[in-house]
Amino acid sequence: MTARETPVQDLTAAQAKKELARLSAEIAEHDKRYHEQDAPIISDADFDALRRRNEAIEARFPDLVRADTPSARVGGKAREGFRKVIHAVPMLSLDNAFAEEEVGDFIQRIRRFLNLREDDQPVISAEPKIDGLSASIRYENGVLVRGATRGDGREGEDVTANLATLADIPKKLKGKAIPAVLEARGEVYMEKAAFAAMNARAQAQGAQLYVNPRNAAAGAVRQLDPTITASRPLRFFCWGWGEVSEPIAETQTMALEKFAAWGLPVNPLRFEARTAEALIAAYHAIGAQRGDLAYEIDGVVYKVDSLALRERLGFVSRSPRWAIAHKFAAEQAETVLEAIDIQVGRTGALTPVARLKPVFVGGVTVTNATLHNEDEIKRKDIRVGDTVVIQRAGDVIPQVVSVALEKRPKGADPYAFPQKCPVCGSHAVREADESGAEDVVRRCTGGLICAAQAKERLKHFVSRRALDIEGLGEKQIDTFYDAGIVREPGDIFTLPARVRSGALQLAQREGMGEQSVANLIEAIEARRTPALARFINALGIRHVGETISDILARAYGSWTALAEAASAARDQESAAWAELVGVEKIGPIKAEALVEFFAEPKNCEMLARLVYDDANNPDGVRPRDAEKAASTHEISGKTIVFTGTLEKMTRDEAKARALALGAKVSGSVSKKTDIVVAGPGAGSKLREAAALGIQVIDEDAWIALSTNP
Ligand code: IVH
Repeated sequence: MTARETPVQDLTAAQAKKELARLSAEIAEHDKRYHEQDAPIISDADFDALRRRNEAIEARFPDLVRADTPSARVGGKAREGFRKVIHAVPMLSLDNAFAEEEVGDFIQRIRRFLNLREDDQPVISAEPKIDGLSASIRYENGVLVRGATRGDGREGEDVTANLATLADIPKKLKGKAIPAVLEARGEVYMEKAAFAAMNARAQAQGAQLYVNPRNAAAGAVRQLDPTITASRPLRFFCWGWGEVSEPIAETQTMALEKFAAWGLPVNPLRFEARTAEALIAAYHAIGAQRGDLAYEIDGVVYKVDSLALRERLGFVSRSPRWAIAHKFAAEQAETVLEAIDIQVGRTGALTPVARLKPVFVGGVTVTNATLHNEDEIKRKDIRVGDTVVIQRAGDVIPQVVSVALEKRPKGADPYAFPQKCPVCGSHAVREADESGAEDVVRRCTGGLICAAQAKERLKHFVSRRALDIEGLGEKQIDTFYDAGIVREPGDIFTLPARVRSGALQLAQREGMGEQSVANLIEAIEARRTPALARFINALGIRHVGETISDILARAYGSWTALAEAASAARDQESAAWAELVGVEKIGPIKAEALVEFFAEPKNCEMLARLVYDDANNPDGVRPRDAEKAASTHEISGKTIVFTGTLEKMTRDEAKARALALGAKVSGSVSKKTDIVVAGPGAGSKLREAAALGIQVIDEDAWIALSTNP
């Protein structure tokens, strides 16, 4: 077998290197023939197969990715989708506030984090939250060079040709002192009137209608043919920026003024406030204008104006500490509850779902709503046949708010929540927590025997925010599980070999042609080396979601380090335990969930079948080491203990800064401690540090150390 025929999984590193070189050259040649000479010599499907093979090899051998990799090559029209763009600065999202009290909490959090004096009230801006889709537009020396969608925040799609068709987006900036690199960020949106007119035209032509301006804008940006985008009435507002080659200003206000001077569109509707009351007043003022604005908004964004303070406040995983979105109240509507179904989740949770008579609310037709849990149904006395008030806000799942009791049909009985799992028949129980309080969630006790739980775990494993295996969707998992083809995560990665050896004949299954089997195998191969955070998230460990997975990945750096730490932390007296609970946002509950997961023999067996191991599982998954936030910083990888009082920053800020620089923070001093930062009042930890000969520094030295690049 020649190297080009060898399955990706069987390639040696040397063969892979040669293959990547060959594929790069071949793809470039086909690209040229297609785009420049208009004379392709292979089919689109074959061309896509070459690109996918290249991606799969790169995923397996990340160290071998070539500088001229076709995956990053820009130019020509994308054919099977858009090229990917890695955001130099991740495009994060905002935390939401729904109630007015939460605005006060937001300000308090900032004050506490920065340890501000009572009279020190920084300016906070309040601006409309545009209901569109975020995009980044990058200028180099004042010239638009790239437009990208947000994607998953790290990696978006290259939609340069499409965004360049927007009249609001200048191809060239004007004015003075434009930074060499300026990546402006903002929202692509469609005005309400333009949306209505567009839909009216579509209706007249019998074409498909869009449900709301946001979906219409998103659809238009993701058109493969930019002339279609150009024909849609899209607009743009800048609300911030990503990468810039030099500081633009001291405050966002001043930065956006510069943006405007350079010809970038900024929203003139903006308030400045210093207190929660003033922010809430701005919220109401913007809310009062909502109906009159030409565009849809779904809330108000509050942002600390000073960029120096923003720098200090930093981020918690995916959202900045310096901003929050205060959402408008959800739209409500009445409809009839036709039935209550019970869904069984991956942790066995029985979730009641309301099946509703379809009703249009919050811009879409709603047919299902969550009923949360047993107590919620009882508290609201929700019965089948009732007329219920439902609400939907943004992307949130619709909810049943209340029952219109006067419309209750005669003979409607109180709802009896099932005591057995509707899927496997096992008892469903409400556990008690340590304090003896009953859990609100009733769970199926079937564990591994419950097909519903196993399927949900698998669906989570392959989902977009976990391993993101294309072509392995919910339906496919159901089918594969029922047929015994995939019963646990490890089975997914043995699937390619089973197909190749002929042991498994997927192509004969309903709905699966040769091509879709080949695509599925490529998609699986492309995920053999997932990012560590995604991999942790994929495991579905209780209390460990996307945010915590991200934090754990950055704190421990590698799968082996995490697994070892979690095993060592079984002993709650150990340094490993102290270190784990010392990691930002990981308290004892999450730490225990993680420890328990690794202590459960069944999970260890499942992991042994899933994760790469030289001797026993050479085809297993190899999670890629996480990029530590600033792995080059001198404190990166070190373990730091804070003790005593810090006077210039809060303990939280100090901890966050250490973690952001790639250090670990521990609550107790041990042989593994590298630095102890001691303030006044430090006691036993300082003595222990001295006894162990560990470096001790004061707060000023810590500030100098942690602010040095
Ligand atoms: S500031 C770190 N300002 O809302 C993210 N975002 O829910 C800073 N959005 O992804 C975002 N209007 O797409 C900001 N005036 C505004 C906005 C705005 C709309 C979107 C944006 C963001 C999403 C977060």
